[in-house]
Amino acid sequence: MDAVRNPYTPGAGSRPPVLSGRDAQLDAFRILLERLRLGRPEKSLLMTGLRGVGKTVLLGTLDGIAEEAGFRTASAEITHETDFSTLMARLTRRALLSLSPAGRLQARARRAAAVLKAFTLRLPDGVEIGIDVEAAVGRGDSGNLADDLADVLVELGNAAADHHSGVVFLFDEIQFLGRREFEALISSLHQCTQRNLPVTLVGAGLPQLPALAGAAKSYAERMFDFPVIDRLDETAASGALELPAAAEGAGFEPEATRRVIEFTDGYPYFLQEYGKHVWNIAAGPVIAVADVAQAEPIVRLQLDDNFFRVRVARTTAAELAYLSAMADLGDGPYRSGDIAVRLGRSGPEGVAPTRSRLIDKGLIFSPSYGLNEFTVPAFADFLRRNYPHPRRATR
Ligand SMILES: Nc1ncnc2c1ncn2[C@@H]1O[C@H](COP(=O)(O)OP(=O)(O)O)[C@@H](O)[C@H]1O
Ligand SMILES: [Mg+2]
Repeated sequence: MDAVRNPYTPGAGSRPPVLSGRDAQLDAFRILLERLRLGRPEKSLLMTGLRGVGKTVLLGTLDGIAEEAGFRTASAEITHETDFSTLMARLTRRALLSLSPAGRLQARARRAAAVLKAFTLRLPDGVEIGIDVEAAVGRGDSGNLADDLADVLVELGNAAADHHSGVVFLFDEIQFLGRREFEALISSLHQCTQRNLPVTLVGAGLPQLPALAGAAKSYAERMFDFPVIDRLDETAASGALELPAAAEGAGFEPEATRRVIEFTDGYPYFLQEYGKHVWNIAAGPVIAVADVAQAEPIVRLQLDDNFFRVRVARTTAAELAYLSAMADLGDGPYRSGDIAVRLGRSGPEGVAPTRSRLIDKGLIFSPSYGLNEFTVPAFADFLRRNYPHPRRATR
Protein backbone atom coordinates (compact mmCIF):
# COMPACT_ATOMS: atom_id res chain seq x y z
CA MET A 1 0.00 0.00 0.00
CA ASP A 2 0.96 3.62 -0.28
CA ALA A 3 4.13 4.06 1.79
CA VAL A 4 3.45 7.75 2.07
CA ARG A 5 0.25 7.03 3.99
CA ASN A 6 1.90 4.45 6.23
CA PRO A 7 0.60 5.26 9.73
CA TYR A 8 2.96 3.14 11.84
CA THR A 9 5.70 4.68 13.98
CA PRO A 10 8.54 2.37 14.96
CA GLY A 11 11.19 4.39 16.77
CA ALA A 12 12.25 5.40 20.26
CA GLY A 13 9.77 7.92 21.60
CA SER A 14 7.83 8.14 18.30
CA ARG A 15 4.26 9.11 19.07
CA PRO A 16 2.03 6.26 17.85
CA PRO A 17 -1.10 7.04 15.83
CA VAL A 18 -3.15 5.31 18.55
CA LEU A 19 -1.95 5.11 22.15
CA SER A 20 -3.42 1.72 22.79
CA GLY A 21 -4.06 0.08 26.15
CA ARG A 22 -2.96 2.90 28.43
CA ASP A 23 -6.32 4.28 29.54
CA ALA A 24 -5.81 3.15 33.12
CA GLN A 25 -2.56 5.12 33.38
CA LEU A 26 -4.10 8.21 31.78
CA ASP A 27 -7.09 8.10 34.13
CA ALA A 28 -4.90 7.64 37.20
CA PHE A 29 -2.83 10.63 36.13
CA ARG A 30 -5.89 12.85 35.64
CA ILE A 31 -7.02 11.97 39.15
CA LEU A 32 -3.56 12.75 40.49
CA LEU A 33 -3.70 16.21 38.91
CA GLU A 34 -7.15 17.00 40.25
CA ARG A 35 -6.15 15.92 43.73
CA LEU A 36 -3.01 18.05 43.57
CA ARG A 37 -5.10 21.01 42.56
CA LEU A 38 -7.30 20.51 45.62
CA GLY A 39 -4.25 20.35 47.86
CA ARG A 40 -4.81 16.67 48.60
CA PRO A 41 -1.63 14.68 48.94
CA GLU A 42 -1.17 12.16 46.19
CA LYS A 43 1.64 9.79 45.34
CA SER A 44 4.08 10.61 42.59
CA LEU A 45 4.45 8.07 39.79
CA LEU A 46 7.43 5.95 38.89
CA MET A 47 6.60 3.97 35.78
CA THR A 48 8.84 1.07 34.96
CA GLY A 49 9.08 -1.27 32.04
CA LEU A 50 11.33 -2.93 29.52
CA ARG A 51 12.68 -1.09 26.49
CA GLY A 52 10.17 -0.52 23.73
CA VAL A 53 6.97 -0.84 25.79
CA GLY A 54 6.10 2.83 25.41
CA LYS A 55 7.31 4.64 28.52
CA THR A 56 8.70 7.67 26.70
CA VAL A 57 5.59 8.02 24.59
CA LEU A 58 3.40 7.77 27.68
CA LEU A 59 5.43 10.44 29.47
CA GLY A 60 4.91 12.73 26.50
CA THR A 61 1.17 12.13 26.60
CA LEU A 62 1.04 12.84 30.34
CA ASP A 63 2.97 16.05 29.74
CA GLY A 64 0.29 17.15 27.30
CA ILE A 65 -2.53 16.23 29.69
CA ALA A 66 -0.89 18.21 32.50
CA GLU A 67 -0.45 21.29 30.35
CA GLU A 68 -4.01 21.11 29.16
CA ALA A 69 -5.12 20.95 32.78
CA GLY A 70 -3.28 24.21 33.47
CA PHE A 71 -0.19 22.75 35.11
CA ARG A 72 3.36 23.77 34.30
CA THR A 73 5.47 20.86 33.13
CA ALA A 74 9.22 20.36 33.32
CA SER A 75 10.51 17.46 31.24
CA ALA A 76 13.96 16.00 30.88
CA GLU A 77 15.71 12.83 29.89
CA ILE A 78 18.31 11.80 32.44
CA THR A 79 21.68 10.48 31.26
CA HIS A 80 24.84 9.47 33.07
CA GLU A 81 26.19 12.91 32.15
CA THR A 82 23.27 14.88 33.59
CA ASP A 83 24.28 17.43 36.18
CA PHE A 84 21.19 17.11 38.30
CA SER A 85 21.46 20.32 40.32
CA THR A 86 21.90 22.39 37.19
CA LEU A 87 19.01 20.60 35.55
CA MET A 88 16.71 21.27 38.49
CA ALA A 89 17.75 24.92 38.55
CA ARG A 90 17.01 25.30 34.85
CA LEU A 91 13.67 23.55 35.05
CA THR A 92 12.61 25.46 38.15
CA ARG A 93 13.53 28.74 36.51
CA ARG A 94 11.47 27.92 33.46
CA ALA A 95 8.48 26.77 35.52
CA LEU A 96 8.63 29.90 37.61
CA LEU A 97 8.80 32.21 34.62
CA SER A 98 5.89 30.47 32.99
CA LEU A 99 3.87 30.98 36.16
CA SER A 100 4.57 34.67 36.14
CA PRO A 101 6.69 36.68 33.70
CA ALA A 102 9.99 38.01 35.04
CA GLY A 103 8.91 41.63 35.18
CA ARG A 104 5.70 40.91 37.06
CA LEU A 105 6.67 38.32 39.65
CA GLN A 106 4.25 38.30 42.52
CA ALA A 107 5.36 37.99 46.13
CA ARG A 108 5.50 34.20 46.32
CA ALA A 109 7.17 33.90 42.94
CA ARG A 110 9.75 36.55 43.93
CA ARG A 111 10.47 34.57 47.06
CA ALA A 112 10.91 31.41 44.99
CA ALA A 113 13.20 33.26 42.59
CA ALA A 114 15.31 34.48 45.51
CA VAL A 115 15.74 30.95 46.84
CA LEU A 116 16.46 29.66 43.35
CA LYS A 117 19.12 32.34 42.97
CA ALA A 118 20.72 31.29 46.25
CA PHE A 119 20.65 27.71 45.01
CA THR A 120 22.28 28.58 41.68
CA LEU A 121 25.06 30.57 43.34
CA ARG A 122 26.25 27.29 44.87
CA LEU A 123 26.46 25.57 41.50
CA PRO A 124 29.85 25.21 39.83
CA ASP A 125 28.84 26.73 36.51
CA GLY A 126 26.11 28.98 37.92
CA VAL A 127 22.85 29.07 36.00
CA GLU A 128 21.87 32.60 34.98
CA ILE A 129 18.35 32.92 36.31
CA GLY A 130 17.87 36.30 34.63
CA ILE A 131 15.46 37.50 37.27
CA ASP A 132 16.32 40.66 39.13
CA VAL A 133 16.15 39.53 42.77
CA GLU A 134 18.54 39.36 45.71
CA ALA A 135 19.57 35.80 46.53
CA ALA A 136 17.88 34.52 49.67
CA VAL A 137 20.10 33.93 52.67
CA GLY A 138 19.72 30.74 54.65
CA ARG A 139 17.40 29.04 52.16
CA GLY A 140 18.63 26.91 49.30
CA ASP A 141 22.24 27.78 50.01
CA SER A 142 23.48 25.26 52.58
CA GLY A 143 25.43 23.18 50.08
CA ASN A 144 23.46 20.07 51.04
CA LEU A 145 21.58 19.02 47.93
CA ALA A 146 18.63 17.40 49.71
CA ASP A 147 18.01 20.42 51.94
CA ASP A 148 18.55 22.99 49.23
CA LEU A 149 16.45 21.27 46.62
CA ALA A 150 13.65 20.92 49.16
CA ASP A 151 13.82 24.69 49.77
CA VAL A 152 13.66 25.36 46.05
CA LEU A 153 10.77 22.98 45.34
CA VAL A 154 8.75 24.09 48.36
CA GLU A 155 9.02 27.72 47.24
CA LEU A 156 8.18 26.73 43.69
CA GLY A 157 5.15 24.88 45.04
CA ASN A 158 4.07 27.93 47.03
CA ALA A 159 4.37 30.11 43.95
CA ALA A 160 2.43 27.60 41.84
CA ALA A 161 -0.35 27.32 44.42
CA ASP A 162 -0.50 31.10 44.55
CA HIS A 163 -1.13 31.09 40.80
CA HIS A 164 -3.74 28.33 41.13
CA SER A 165 -1.48 26.04 39.20
CA GLY A 166 0.97 23.24 39.91
CA VAL A 167 4.21 21.83 38.60
CA VAL A 168 4.77 18.37 37.17
CA PHE A 169 8.32 17.15 36.67
CA LEU A 170 8.57 14.42 34.05
CA PHE A 171 11.86 12.53 34.01
CA ASP A 172 12.66 9.84 31.49
CA GLU A 173 15.40 7.22 31.99
CA ILE A 174 15.33 8.09 35.66
CA GLN A 175 17.37 4.99 36.52
CA PHE A 176 20.41 7.00 35.41
CA LEU A 177 20.05 9.40 38.34
CA GLY A 178 22.75 8.92 40.93
CA ARG A 179 21.80 7.61 44.32
CA ARG A 180 22.45 10.93 46.05
CA GLU A 181 20.43 12.86 43.48
CA PHE A 182 17.56 10.43 43.65
CA GLU A 183 17.50 10.67 47.43
CA ALA A 184 17.49 14.44 47.29
CA LEU A 185 14.65 14.42 44.78
CA ILE A 186 12.57 12.01 46.82
CA SER A 187 13.01 13.85 50.08
CA SER A 188 12.32 17.22 48.45
CA LEU A 189 9.08 15.90 47.00
CA HIS A 190 8.25 14.56 50.42
CA GLN A 191 8.59 18.07 51.83
CA CYS A 192 6.17 19.34 49.21
CA THR A 193 3.67 16.57 49.91
CA GLN A 194 3.76 17.25 53.63
CA ARG A 195 2.81 20.86 52.90
CA ASN A 196 0.10 19.84 50.43
CA LEU A 197 1.89 21.72 47.68
CA PRO A 198 1.06 21.01 44.03
CA VAL A 199 4.42 19.63 42.93
CA THR A 200 4.76 16.11 41.65
CA LEU A 201 7.03 13.83 39.70
CA VAL A 202 6.35 11.35 36.97
CA GLY A 203 9.40 9.23 36.35
CA ALA A 204 9.92 6.51 33.79
CA GLY A 205 12.69 4.00 33.72
CA LEU A 206 13.91 0.46 33.65
CA PRO A 207 12.57 -2.12 36.06
CA GLN A 208 15.33 -1.89 38.67
CA LEU A 209 13.77 1.39 39.71
CA PRO A 210 11.53 0.42 42.64
CA ALA A 211 14.41 -1.35 44.33
CA LEU A 212 16.58 1.71 43.81
CA ALA A 213 13.98 4.05 45.25
CA GLY A 214 13.42 1.71 48.16
CA ALA A 215 17.08 1.71 48.97
CA ALA A 216 17.28 5.46 48.48
CA LYS A 217 14.61 6.25 51.05
CA SER A 218 12.55 3.97 53.19
CA TYR A 219 9.46 6.12 52.72
CA ALA A 220 9.70 5.94 48.93
CA GLU A 221 7.09 3.19 48.94
CA ARG A 222 4.60 5.48 50.59
CA MET A 223 5.45 8.37 48.29
CA PHE A 224 5.30 6.64 44.95
CA ASP A 225 3.02 4.47 42.93
CA PHE A 226 4.99 2.12 40.72
CA PRO A 227 2.84 1.33 37.71
CA VAL A 228 4.38 -1.30 35.47
CA ILE A 229 4.18 -0.44 31.79
CA ASP A 230 3.90 -3.78 30.09
CA ARG A 231 3.35 -5.22 26.65
CA LEU A 232 -0.18 -4.83 25.34
CA ASP A 233 -2.84 -7.44 25.93
CA GLU A 234 -4.56 -8.96 22.92
CA THR A 235 -7.30 -6.36 22.65
CA ALA A 236 -4.91 -3.44 23.01
CA ALA A 237 -2.42 -4.98 20.59
CA SER A 238 -5.17 -5.50 17.99
CA GLY A 239 -6.15 -1.89 18.45
CA ALA A 240 -2.58 -0.68 18.03
CA LEU A 241 -2.40 -2.55 14.73
CA GLU A 242 -5.90 -2.23 13.29
CA LEU A 243 -7.11 1.23 14.29
CA PRO A 244 -4.37 3.16 12.45
CA ALA A 245 -5.07 1.09 9.33
CA ALA A 246 -8.82 1.65 9.65
CA ALA A 247 -8.22 5.40 9.83
CA GLU A 248 -6.58 5.10 6.39
CA GLY A 249 -9.42 3.00 4.99
CA ALA A 250 -7.46 -0.27 5.23
CA GLY A 251 -7.85 -3.35 7.40
CA PHE A 252 -6.48 -6.70 8.57
CA GLU A 253 -7.82 -10.22 8.18
CA PRO A 254 -8.42 -11.48 11.73
CA GLU A 255 -5.89 -14.25 11.20
CA ALA A 256 -3.35 -11.70 9.94
CA THR A 257 -3.73 -9.67 13.14
CA ARG A 258 -3.41 -12.82 15.20
CA ARG A 259 -0.14 -13.76 13.49
CA VAL A 260 1.36 -10.32 14.10
CA ILE A 261 0.39 -10.39 17.76
CA GLU A 262 1.88 -13.83 18.11
CA PHE A 263 5.18 -12.75 16.57
CA THR A 264 5.40 -9.48 18.50
CA ASP A 265 4.06 -10.81 21.78
CA GLY A 266 2.20 -7.51 22.06
CA TYR A 267 5.34 -5.38 22.48
CA PRO A 268 4.51 -1.91 21.17
CA TYR A 269 7.81 -1.33 19.38
CA PHE A 270 7.57 -4.69 17.58
CA LEU A 271 3.95 -4.01 16.64
CA GLN A 272 4.87 -0.70 15.06
CA GLU A 273 7.75 -2.24 13.15
CA TYR A 274 5.56 -5.07 11.90
CA GLY A 275 2.73 -2.73 10.98
CA LYS A 276 5.07 -0.54 8.99
CA HIS A 277 6.55 -3.33 6.86
CA VAL A 278 3.42 -5.36 6.29
CA TRP A 279 1.67 -2.18 5.18
CA ASN A 280 4.36 -1.49 2.60
CA ILE A 281 4.30 -5.05 1.29
CA ALA A 282 0.55 -5.61 1.12
CA ALA A 283 -1.50 -4.76 -1.97
CA GLY A 284 -4.42 -3.99 0.34
CA PRO A 285 -6.80 -2.62 1.25
CA VAL A 286 -7.12 -5.69 3.47
CA ILE A 287 -3.84 -7.05 4.81
CA ALA A 288 -3.84 -10.83 4.50
CA VAL A 289 -2.04 -13.66 6.29
CA ALA A 290 0.20 -14.10 3.23
CA ASP A 291 1.31 -10.47 3.56
CA VAL A 292 2.16 -11.03 7.20
CA ALA A 293 4.18 -14.14 6.33
CA GLN A 294 6.02 -12.29 3.58
CA ALA A 295 6.88 -9.39 5.88
CA GLU A 296 8.20 -11.54 8.72
CA PRO A 297 11.84 -11.90 7.60
CA ILE A 298 12.02 -8.18 6.84
CA VAL A 299 10.60 -7.32 10.25
CA ARG A 300 13.07 -9.61 11.93
CA LEU A 301 15.95 -8.01 10.06
CA GLN A 302 14.77 -4.51 10.90
CA LEU A 303 14.33 -5.36 14.58
CA ASP A 304 17.80 -6.88 14.68
CA ASP A 305 19.32 -3.80 13.08
CA ASN A 306 17.26 -1.05 14.67
CA PHE A 307 16.43 -2.37 18.09
CA PHE A 308 18.82 -5.09 19.19
CA ARG A 309 22.18 -4.49 17.54
CA VAL A 310 22.47 -0.92 18.81
CA ARG A 311 22.52 -2.30 22.37
CA VAL A 312 25.26 -4.78 21.61
CA ALA A 313 27.32 -2.05 19.99
CA ARG A 314 27.80 -0.44 23.38
CA THR A 315 29.27 -3.51 25.09
CA THR A 316 32.83 -4.69 25.66
CA ALA A 317 33.90 -8.24 24.79
CA ALA A 318 33.52 -9.33 28.43
CA GLU A 319 30.08 -7.80 28.69
CA LEU A 320 28.93 -9.41 25.48
CA ALA A 321 30.23 -12.79 26.68
CA TYR A 322 28.19 -12.31 29.85
CA LEU A 323 25.05 -11.55 27.83
CA SER A 324 25.62 -14.54 25.55
CA ALA A 325 26.05 -16.79 28.57
CA MET A 326 22.76 -15.54 29.97
CA ALA A 327 20.96 -16.16 26.69
CA ASP A 328 22.51 -19.61 26.48
CA LEU A 329 20.71 -20.54 29.70
CA GLY A 330 17.34 -20.23 27.97
CA ASP A 331 14.71 -17.78 29.07
CA GLY A 332 15.15 -15.65 32.18
CA PRO A 333 15.37 -14.71 34.93
CA TYR A 334 18.91 -15.96 35.32
CA ARG A 335 20.82 -16.69 38.54
CA SER A 336 24.16 -14.89 38.83
CA GLY A 337 25.73 -18.18 39.91
CA ASP A 338 24.46 -20.05 36.84
CA ILE A 339 25.77 -17.34 34.52
CA ALA A 340 29.17 -17.50 36.17
CA VAL A 341 29.31 -21.27 35.79
CA ARG A 342 28.43 -20.96 32.13
CA LEU A 343 31.32 -18.53 31.82
CA GLY A 344 33.61 -21.15 33.32
CA ARG A 345 33.86 -19.51 36.75
CA SER A 346 33.34 -21.24 40.05
CA GLY A 347 31.28 -18.41 41.50
CA PRO A 348 29.69 -15.07 40.60
CA GLU A 349 32.26 -12.86 42.37
CA GLY A 350 34.75 -12.77 39.50
CA VAL A 351 32.17 -11.55 37.00
CA ALA A 352 30.34 -9.23 39.40
CA PRO A 353 32.00 -6.10 37.96
CA THR A 354 30.86 -7.05 34.47
CA ARG A 355 27.35 -7.56 35.77
CA SER A 356 27.36 -4.14 37.48
CA ARG A 357 28.51 -2.45 34.30
CA LEU A 358 25.72 -4.11 32.33
CA ILE A 359 23.21 -2.92 34.91
CA ASP A 360 24.77 0.54 34.74
CA LYS A 361 24.41 0.59 30.98
CA GLY A 362 20.77 -0.38 31.32
CA LEU A 363 21.14 -3.70 29.47
CA ILE A 364 20.19 -6.00 32.33
CA PHE A 365 18.44 -5.52 35.65
CA SER A 366 17.99 -7.45 38.83
CA PRO A 367 14.34 -8.40 39.41
CA SER A 368 15.30 -9.68 42.86
CA TYR A 369 18.41 -10.58 44.79
CA GLY A 370 20.82 -12.76 42.82
CA LEU A 371 18.65 -12.80 39.71
CA ASN A 372 19.16 -11.10 36.37
CA GLU A 373 16.99 -10.30 33.39
CA PHE A 374 17.39 -8.48 30.09
CA THR A 375 15.87 -4.99 29.85
CA VAL A 376 15.18 -5.58 26.16
CA PRO A 377 12.32 -7.95 25.30
CA ALA A 378 13.26 -10.97 23.17
CA PHE A 379 16.94 -10.09 23.55
CA ALA A 380 17.88 -13.66 24.53
CA ASP A 381 16.59 -14.93 21.22
CA PHE A 382 18.50 -12.26 19.31
CA LEU A 383 21.72 -13.13 21.14
CA ARG A 384 21.33 -16.85 20.54
CA ARG A 385 20.88 -16.21 16.83
CA ASN A 386 23.67 -13.65 16.44
CA TYR A 387 26.11 -14.01 19.32
CA PRO A 388 25.92 -17.64 20.42
CA HIS A 389 27.81 -18.59 23.54
CA PRO A 390 30.85 -20.70 22.59
CA ARG A 391 29.67 -24.15 23.67
CA ARG A 392 31.99 -25.53 26.26
CA ALA A 393 33.70 -28.86 25.60
CA THR A 394 32.57 -30.19 28.98
CA ARG A 395 28.91 -29.93 28.04
N1 LIG B 1 0.38 2.38 23.71
C1 LIG B 1 0.97 2.21 22.53
N2 LIG B 1 0.28 1.75 21.47
C2 LIG B 1 0.89 1.59 20.28
N3 LIG B 1 2.19 1.85 20.05
C3 LIG B 1 2.92 2.29 21.06
C4 LIG B 1 2.36 2.51 22.35
N4 LIG B 1 3.33 2.95 23.17
C5 LIG B 1 4.45 3.03 22.44
N5 LIG B 1 4.23 2.63 21.16
C6 LIG B 1 5.28 2.53 20.11
O1 LIG B 1 6.31 1.73 20.69
C7 LIG B 1 7.60 2.22 20.37
C8 LIG B 1 8.42 2.42 21.64
O2 LIG B 1 7.91 3.48 22.41
P1 LIG B 1 8.82 4.21 23.49
O3 LIG B 1 7.96 5.18 24.22
O4 LIG B 1 10.07 4.74 22.86
O5 LIG B 1 9.19 2.99 24.47
P2 LIG B 1 10.18 2.98 25.73
O6 LIG B 1 10.39 4.40 26.15
O7 LIG B 1 9.45 2.19 26.76
O8 LIG B 1 11.44 2.30 25.28
C9 LIG B 1 7.39 3.45 19.51
O9 LIG B 1 7.57 3.06 18.17
C10 LIG B 1 5.94 3.85 19.77
O10 LIG B 1 5.36 4.43 18.62
MG1 LIG C 1 12.16 5.45 26.35
